[in-house]
Amino acid sequence: MGVIITIDEMIDRTADLPVIPAVALRIMHEADSNTASASQIAMLLARDPALASRVLRLANSAYYGLSGQVFGLKEAVVVLGLRCVKNLALVAVSYPWLSKPLHGYGLDPKDLWMHSHGTAVAAMLAAQRSGRLRDDEAFTAGLLHDIGKLAMNVWLERKTEALIQLSSLNGWSFVECERTVLGYDHGQVGGRIAERWNLPLSVIDSARFHHEPDTRPDPSLVVDAVHLGDYLASALGFGMGADGLQYALQPNTLVRLGLHPQDIDRIADDLERERRLQAESFEEIVA
Ligand SMILES: [Fe+2]
Ligand SMILES: [Fe+2]
Repeated sequence: MGVIITIDEMIDRTADLPVIPAVALRIMHEADSNTASASQIAMLLARDPALASRVLRLANSAYYGLSGQVFGLKEAVVVLGLRCVKNLALVAVSYPWLSKPLHGYGLDPKDLWMHSHGTAVAAMLAAQRSGRLRDDEAFTAGLLHDIGKLAMNVWLERKTEALIQLSSLNGWSFVECERTVLGYDHGQVGGRIAERWNLPLSVIDSARFHHEPDTRPDPSLVVDAVHLGDYLASALGFGMGADGLQYALQPNTLVRLGLHPQDIDRIADDLERERRLQAESFEEIVA
C-alpha cells in the first residue's frame, strides 16, 4: 500500500498535537551547551512560573531525599545539576501529552507515559553501565522517543485490528506493519516532529531510529541506549501497546554500547526499582 498522506501533512492535520514550550526548549539547548550556568537555567525557568513551580516541587520530592530543603530555582539547579533540572522540566512538560490514551496503539490513559518514562530510565541505566555516553542525554531521548505516536494515533484508529492481524500472520514487527499500511512508521513521524520542534539531534535520531538503530547510516550511542531501553520497557510490560509486538533487540546495539547479554538482566533489575521510585515521587506533582 502506498503513502496515503505525507508525514508533514499528517503532522499538520493532527489537531491536538502538543507544542513544546519555548522555555523548555531553551533549557534543553542551554543545558547541553558547555557554557550554561546555574543562574542562566534558573533565569530561563523563572520565565514560566507554572513550570518553575513544578520543577521546584520535583526537586523537593522524596526521590531526591531532599524534601523541603531546596527553596529557590538557582539552588535547585546547583544541588541537582543543570542536566537533571533539564530532565525534570521535560518530565513536567511532557506528562500531560504522554498520559493521554492512544486507541490506535491500544494504549489506555497513562500507558504511553509509563512506557516512555520506563524507556527513559532504562536508557539512562544503560548509559551508566556502558560509560560511553551521557546518561541525562539518554533519559531525554528515551522520554520523547515515541512522540510520533501522538500524530499517528488518529490515522491508525480504525486500522489497529488489521495491523495486529498483519503482525501475527507474517511475524512482522508493528513498525513494519505501519510502513505497509501507511507508507512510513511512527519513528519517521516522531523524527520529523522533533525536527520541527528544533529538539537536539540526539532526540531527533532516537525518535526516528529507535526501533532499528542498525539502519542509521552513522551509529549513535544515544539511539542504541534508547533502543535497549524501549526493548526492556516493552519486555517488562511498561505501558505495553500494540507496537510491542514482535519487538527484537538489534544485535549490534550491545556491541556498540560495550555491554554483554548479562548486563540486560542487571539493567532490568535496577529498572523496576528506579522507575517505581521516580513514578511514586513525580506523578502526583506533574499530574
Ligand atoms: Fe516506538
Ligand atoms: Fe517505545
